[in-house]
Parts: sequence; structure tokens; C-alpha cells
Amino acid sequence: MSDLTTPYLGLTLKSPLVASACPVTESVPNIRELEDAGIGAVVLPSLFEEQLELESNALDEDLWRGADSFPESQSILPDLQTYNLGPDGYLDLILGAKEAVDIPVIASLNGVSPGGWAEYARLMAEAGADAIELNIYSIAAEPAESAMEVEKGYVDLVRQIKRTVRVPVAVKLSPFFSAPANMAMRLDEAGAGGLVLFNRFYQPDFDIESLEVVPRLTLSHPDELLLRLHWAAILFDHVEADIAITGGVHSATDVIKCMMAGARVAMMASALLHKGIPHAAYVLADLRRWLDDHEYDSVQQMCGSMSRRSVEDSTAFERGNYMRVLSSYTFRSDAFKK
Ligand SMILES: Cc1cc2nc3c(=O)[nH]c(=O)nc-3n(C[C@H](O)[C@H](O)[C@H](O)COP(=O)(O)O)c2cc1C
Repeated sequence: MSDLTTPYLGLTLKSPLVASACPVTESVPNIRELEDAGIGAVVLPSLFEEQLELESNALDEDLWRGADSFPESQSILPDLQTYNLGPDGYLDLILGAKEAVDIPVIASLNGVSPGGWAEYARLMAEAGADAIELNIYSIAAEPAESAMEVEKGYVDLVRQIKRTVRVPVAVKLSPFFSAPANMAMRLDEAGAGGLVLFNRFYQPDFDIESLEVVPRLTLSHPDELLLRLHWAAILFDHVEADIAITGGVHSATDVIKCMMAGARVAMMASALLHKGIPHAAYVLADLRRWLDDHEYDSVQQMCGSMSRRSVEDSTAFERGNYMRVLSSYTFRSDAFKK
């Protein structure tokens, strides 16, 4: 039987399928079930910079004064004390999970600005987290802020967290950079042990009757994987950090594509939310079957086999492919005729 073990962030995972940060990983019984299903590691839901700043009272007054002046915002803001268990509940979750399972438990911090909140990474590590995933979810909405400043902020934050903890730090980031490969290299140099490609961005929707801006979250579609495969294939062998893919991983085929592109792990959230935790076991059984049928001894054997470095026609990942993609579309002029 093929070997599914996978190195990620200096840890050895029993499989390359990782449960991504989402409500599924918010309880110890779920985490135990994920381990039983064969999941290689879990990423806990994030604690947010805003929550931790609130804890230190820095944001408290401003935020709630703001909420009072705009009553509608009270329904938009989650309860910061308790969201994703809140700062205290979060440490209990780490402790409980570490006691209950043998797979690595990765804690997640979500923020963007440098500050005291990042010190919380140390408490996460002290509670037993095997690694920290830092989700930098930044919307560069301030016209006066340059791309250089935004990027420097990312790198500084990674450096700050790295100074705070000894455990490995992975960075979950956005694809929206002018030069994503350069950004990946700089995060690598700043000490990121893993690059998690990519955040999904949740654009607010408009309610045209009430004239309100409403939050909207839809689960992912496997098509979203293509952007991640593209960049994993480009970055493979260019960064020391392990590459993880999140966004559009729903099946064993998706996991295989991630590995072939050059990722060490494939992360799953939407499919677990939609189909339940047992789906992970089906995916891993399909993965094993496929590897055996194709005579792979291990999942690592195919890591990067479809990366830009490995394929014969590397233009498939570059501008050269643009025209090929467009010209591959066959327009049927009779399609609109009745
Ligand atoms: C309901 C929900 C909650 C999520 N919460 C978090 C979170 O707390 N932190 C985080 O980094 N990502 C969070 N995510 C993003 C997922 O971890 C994942 O990156 C994203 O959904 C793409 O993976 P998927 O296609 O498998 O869903 C959340 C996603 C969903 C659907």
C-alpha cells in the first residue's frame, strides 16, 4: 500500500489531507473524528487581531462607541469575546485537542497590523500548538498606501511572529500581489516555514431593496483550485517553505493535483462543511486506490511532477499559454439559433 506520509512545517503528517481552519475544527470531538478519518493535521479556526486587541482593551471603547453610533453595525460585528471560542476558550481548545489526538494541531491567527496581539502566538505555542498559521487578510483600501508599504507590513508581521515563537509559522496569503513570486520569496526569507495558497476573499453583496451591504459566504467550487495549482507549480523549488493549497480541494483528484503542482499538503474546509467529516475518509481511500493503480510507492513521489520546473512546456504557466487558452475555445455560431 502506498505511503501517504508527508513532511509539512518540519512535522511528519500521516497523510497530505489537512482540515483547514473552519467551524469543523472548532471542537475536540470533531478533531478526534477527523483524526480517525485519516486527516494529517488540523488547523483550528482563527483568532482575530480585533479580538486580541479587544482583550487588551485597546480597541474596546472605540469599537463599541462606533457600534452605538451605527446601530446596524451591531448586527454585522460578531461577538468578539466569543467568536471562534474567544481568546480563553481557544487555549482550552488547543489543550483539549492535544490531549485527545496525536496528529499535529495548528493554531491560527488572523491579522494584518503589527502590534501586541501577535504576542498571543506565544500563548498558543505554550498551550501545545505544533505550529502557527498566520492568516494575513488585508484589503489595501487606502489609496495613499503603496504596494511597497503593504508588502513590508506582511514581511514585518511574519518576522514579529517568528521572534515570538519557536514553533514553525505558516503564512496564509492572498494571490493579489503584483509580483506574487517575489512576495513568496520575501516571506520565505522572513522565516515562513509554509505558504498557504490562497485566502478566498469574501466580497460583500448588495441588498438592492434595503440598500444594505450584506456579508455573503458561499462554499468553494473545485474550479477555484486552478489558481492555486498555477502558483504552487510556479513557486515549487523556488522557495524553501512548504507549500500548502487551500481553496477548491474537494476530491482525491484535487489532492493529487495539489501534490503534482508541488504542494506538500492539500487543505479542505468547504467539502467537510458540506459533506461531513466522513468525506475525508472517502477522499483518502480514493487517493490510496489511485496511487496503487498507478504504481506510486508514496505520495511524495509525485510532489512537483507537474510543476513549472518539471513539465516540458513551461509556457503553460506563463504568458505563452494565454493565447492558447483563448484559442482553445470553440465558438459555435449556431449555438444561439433556434
Ligand atoms: C465557514 C468558514 C469559516 C472559516 N473560518 C476561517 C478562519 O477562521 N480562519 C481562516 O484562516 N480561514 C477560515 N476559513 C477559510 C478556510 O480555512 C479555507 O481556506 C477556505 O474555505 C478555502 O478552502 P475550501 O475551498 O476547502 O473551503 C473559513 C471558511 C469557511 C467556509
